[in-house]
Amino acid sequence: MKIAMVGVGYVGLTTAAALASWGHQVACVNHDAKKIAQLRTGQVPFFEPGLSQLVSENTKANRLSFHTRLTTALQDAELVFLAVQTPMDESGQANLSFLRQAAGEVAATLTRPAIIVNKSTAPPGTSRLIQEIIAQSLHPCPVVVNPEFLREGSAIEDIMHPDRVVVGGRDQEAVNKVASLYEHLDTTIVKTDPESAELIKYAANAFLATKISFINAIARLCDQIGADVEDVSLGLGLDQRIGPAFLRAGLGYGGSCFPKDLSGLLHWAKGLGYSFDLLKAVQEINTGQITYVFTGIRAMVGANLKGKRLALLGLAFKPNTDDIRESPALRLAQLLHSEGAELAGYDPQAMVQVAAAAPYIKLCPDVETACTDAEAVLLLTAWPEFVRLDLNELAKVVKAKIFIDTRNVYDPAVVRAQGWRYWSVGRP
Ligand code: UDX
Repeated sequence: MKIAMVGVGYVGLTTAAALASWGHQVACVNHDAKKIAQLRTGQVPFFEPGLSQLVSENTKANRLSFHTRLTTALQDAELVFLAVQTPMDESGQANLSFLRQAAGEVAATLTRPAIIVNKSTAPPGTSRLIQEIIAQSLHPCPVVVNPEFLREGSAIEDIMHPDRVVVGGRDQEAVNKVASLYEHLDTTIVKTDPESAELIKYAANAFLATKISFINAIARLCDQIGADVEDVSLGLGLDQRIGPAFLRAGLGYGGSCFPKDLSGLLHWAKGLGYSFDLLKAVQEINTGQITYVFTGIRAMVGANLKGKRLALLGLAFKPNTDDIRESPALRLAQLLHSEGAELAGYDPQAMVQVAAAAPYIKLCPDVETACTDAEAVLLLTAWPEFVRLDLNELAKVVKAKIFIDTRNVYDPAVVRAQGWRYWSVGRP
């Protein structure tokens, strides 16, 4: 099929590359000429394992192309995907201005009928708004909602092997055509109405965030009684009705999706007259987790952090990404900085982003430099390279052998046996 993709962020670009790899002709469009020029040479403007290769391969095979002009991208397009950002505005609601603008431009540019497919995460009812905007086009264009569930860091794997595909729309022919893109995948395709499709996406993110806050609350109770949250999590997750995923206690969730979408769902529900108090509690626990870990650090390092050098390992919001949006590691760093701590940090991918967002962190080229003279080592993001640190080697450069493992990566007994004082979340 001939497909246009409006937006080249995580969702837009990964989806476009995947669709091209399945044999479709995909034309991506973005106003940013510099970004488009980079993409034409296979350079992806953010770190996502495997994506650059997939983009290059499909560009070379003439299945994937990049444009700055919508007119070129829309030429002959049977499907027009909208994958633009829907950031959180100051009040916490989803800001739909980029989506409105994209839909408006598409409506004004279309020269033939096409199916409009929305992939941007937005509150239920947004497809109606898109439909109204698209109605200004001279051509009949059904709107279909096709949410994306990919995770940063494993985007390609997620899109190639999805747990399910959701397609929502009122025009059955259009729904079937969009669903046919995914029919070769070994997965369930949920065909539904547009509002249900939109709500599935919001509900999925809210539910996953709820699991994380739940286990973090349990972790705090574990600390009170000397229980081990990792064992509790294992015992919980083995119940097939619960499942093991997203039960890792730690520093809480961050990123470009969970905080924004929870807030968007809360506001949307409020607009319907429903106060979604469960989600408010999820947010509160997540915010409080930073303070909780901060208290743990003070208990280990001393209440007065002024002038104390702390090593921060990992600053991205999770491993395998250079994304620092809503990063719990940076929220904790901000708190430590406000208490006068001297921060030395290292992240395998997010250094440029951290330099711009948190100039008070002295960035170091590697783990050893960050840990040199540190009064405590804080593991904040569980990058694979931090999982097997040589603690005996690190012991030679640190000032004090204190290890704060906010992602519960290490075995407490093993670290303590090497002479370190060790603190993790919800474990004795
Ligand atoms: C999420 C959803 O998983 C994805 O389906 C959706 O499309 C976009 O939002 P992403 O934000 O990329 O994906 O990351 P994810 O792997 O879900 O992690 C989100 C946050 O939760 C990270 O900060 C991570 O460290 C944290 N997390 C995750 C935990 O603290 N504990 C867990 O058990 C799992």
